[in-house]
Amino acid sequence: MLKDKVAIVTGAAAGIGEATALFFSELGASVVALDRDGEGAKKVVARIGANALAVTADMRDRASLAAAVDAAMARFGRIDILINNAGIYPRQRFLDLTEEQWDEMQDVNLKGTFRMTQLVAPHMLRQGAGKIVNISSVTFFVGARLLSHYVAAKGGVIGFTRVLAKELGEQNIHVNCITPGAIQTAAEKFFVTEEQSREFVQMQSLKRRLQPIEIARVCAFLAGPWSDGMTGQTLNVDGGWILY
Ligand SMILES: NC(=O)c1ccc[n+]([C@@H]2O[C@H](COP(=O)([O-])OP(=O)(O)OC[C@H]3O[C@@H](n4cnc5c(N)ncnc54)[C@H](O)[C@@H]3O)[C@@H](O)[C@H]2O)c1
Repeated sequence: MLKDKVAIVTGAAAGIGEATALFFSELGASVVALDRDGEGAKKVVARIGANALAVTADMRDRASLAAAVDAAMARFGRIDILINNAGIYPRQRFLDLTEEQWDEMQDVNLKGTFRMTQLVAPHMLRQGAGKIVNISSVTFFVGARLLSHYVAAKGGVIGFTRVLAKELGEQNIHVNCITPGAIQTAAEKFFVTEEQSREFVQMQSLKRRLQPIEIARVCAFLAGPWSDGMTGQTLNVDGGWILY
């Protein structure tokens, strides 16, 4: 259902981005897998095959993102979908948080989304259509200890989504957002204990861990024709953790 569409997925070397890149290719899209981990992006692209391009770029570095967008245009000639997924979530007590830690978080998770969107949107405007999906977090709604810098950035992503939906809606660009709950990625073993994993399940209505593919499927919904009547929305995909 994404046949003939070209999608850029940021943070595509691992986790939710990797699952999204792979799922979009199954749906027929050509995929640009962008990541600062270029080797990881290449491995994902190797699993996809011909209709995919790996690009090494850092969300903090506008020039590298501009080069990535240029490479996508050179290879595929258009960009229909942008999934702003790349993100970091190092934990730190608020009272110990340094200016550098705060700035890095905003630079990657919030300003990176701004940079990438500003570079891609002109192509969508020229084409007369586009779908942008921003990945925020359920922590914006529930708060999370040790993540003041992260939750502030993810709240910014929701606000950014709403304003862009208004500014770009007239030109048929859809901008929506997903707030994932606790998703069981390969990386979480480094910072989530088994006890915490059980606590996540306890907080959810669905009594199992959520997988990256479940966010990828909602990305596909928001990137495809099924969501044509929606923009500026935030979909919470958290196994029924918060209900509203
Ligand atoms: N996993 C969760 O439970 C969860 C919950 C809510 C929101 N999220 C959000 O989903 C997104 C993906 O998270 P994930 O768990 O899949 O993470 P992950 O760590 O598994 O993968 C993130 C990818 O982004 C890349 N990346 C990080 N910083 C980058 C930068 N500066 N430039 C380019 N690429 C960069 C990494 O190399 C990695 O490949 C993030 O925005 C995260 O905040 C995740």
